Amino acid sequence: MDKFLIKGPSILKGQVSISGSKNAALPILASTLLFDKPVTLKNLPRVRDIDTMLNLLRSLGSKIEFFDNKKKVRISKTKKQKYFASYSLLKTMRAGILVLGPLVAKHQKSITSFPGGCVLNGNSGRPINLHLNALQKLGMKFSILNGYIHASSKGKLKGKTIKFPSISVGATQHLLISSILSDGTTILKGVATEPEVVDLINYLNAAGANIKWVGKRTCQIIGVNSLKETNYTVMGDRIETGTFCVAATLTKGNLLIKGFDPSLIKTELDLLKKTGAKIKILNQEIHIKGPQKIKKINHLVTKEYAGFPTDLAPQFMVLLCKANGRSSITENIFKSRFMHAMELQRLGAKISIKNNQATIEGNTNFIGAEVMSSDLRASAALILAVISAKGISTVSRVYHCDRGYENIEKKLKKIGVNIKRIS
Ligand code: EPU
Repeated sequence: MDKFLIKGPSILKGQVSISGSKNAALPILASTLLFDKPVTLKNLPRVRDIDTMLNLLRSLGSKIEFFDNKKKVRISKTKKQKYFASYSLLKTMRAGILVLGPLVAKHQKSITSFPGGCVLNGNSGRPINLHLNALQKLGMKFSILNGYIHASSKGKLKGKTIKFPSISVGATQHLLISSILSDGTTILKGVATEPEVVDLINYLNAAGANIKWVGKRTCQIIGVNSLKETNYTVMGDRIETGTFCVAATLTKGNLLIKGFDPSLIKTELDLLKKTGAKIKILNQEIHIKGPQKIKKINHLVTKEYAGFPTDLAPQFMVLLCKANGRSSITENIFKSRFMHAMELQRLGAKISIKNNQATIEGNTNFIGAEVMSSDLRASAALILAVISAKGISTVSRVYHCDRGYENIEKKLKKIGVNIKRIS
């Protein structure tokens, strides 16, 4: 297992190019199972979860061709379509479940393993009840045997009105891609409106789907018979962008962050301004300078978009450790979002956790130590903390980071971080 060896503190300066969004690319890739014609995707991030999804598609019979250093991919159908999505591929990545609906929608059958992924929900695991219940309403039948979902449908799925009992990004994406070839009209109520959902809809409509927003959280999908050959550029990664914005703010840095639409992270940028960051918004660029003294944010609350994203809560926690007083974070999406707090304490942080609320004392001067990542965004938070810590640190289990951050050590080195990957 690789580790990062980081010597701090560093002041981050220079330019960062943001990679394509992992969380936008994953459902887009899963939906290629619906096409008879090839799909070409640009701006794919070179991260492990994308490799896993491509391996999954290959195992299902898709032909995958790479271009431009694997940032562009052409996915086409072969005659060897398969319907079995194995545990070995789904155990590390929750988004693997997104192949279930398209296989049933297109071929009326699938045997798909229960997925794995980051352990963000404590003992509750990462349920997929919202996905399965909604697919059932479209006419999918299923039974569970030996950890696999055996699913089928009699003919095409049938358009229905479905109201999600709670908001889920994955279930929204899954139902969108599963209903575009259905008979009739599907109405999805209570959908997630994250930019990655919007990117998926833009791409599906470009491919000939008929999806319309008919309310703030309501989509109408009129079934079509087939999708056409499509070229699409995946949006930039908003969580990577937010992570680098925190990095600049945390280290009195000065970064020009390129390749992302700043209007999509207005909530996060407004909060960083409150902490004292100076931010200039340009076209697809953010120029951000960190303050000499970081101001506290009394209370940060994670919410569905356009609220503050759970995937940036760990990184903001690091920032608040160095702010001028006590702050708190309430986490509303995942039960185990604060697993990195114990590791931050090894670097000198003063954080107490009660239920879904973390209280962060502030005024911490981090001192280097050995720390271990527990999940993807926890690994980003630990890397940020040790960059601003005095002395040498190691961050272990960086395979979590490799799931979602492209070339992180190369990008950090370029802006002044003393970082080395050791095996
Ligand atoms: N939930 C259920 N039942 C379901 C689905 C979800 O109870 O069937 C619960 C979850 O346990 C959670 C809440 O609903 O408590 C919201 O989960 P959601 O389905 O919205 O999350 P997701 O689709 O599994 C995506 C991102 C996550 C991100 C969340 C929230 C991808 C591949 N993953 O997960 O990203 O945190 O939305 O925005 O898009 C990450 O990139 O590090 C990551 C974890």
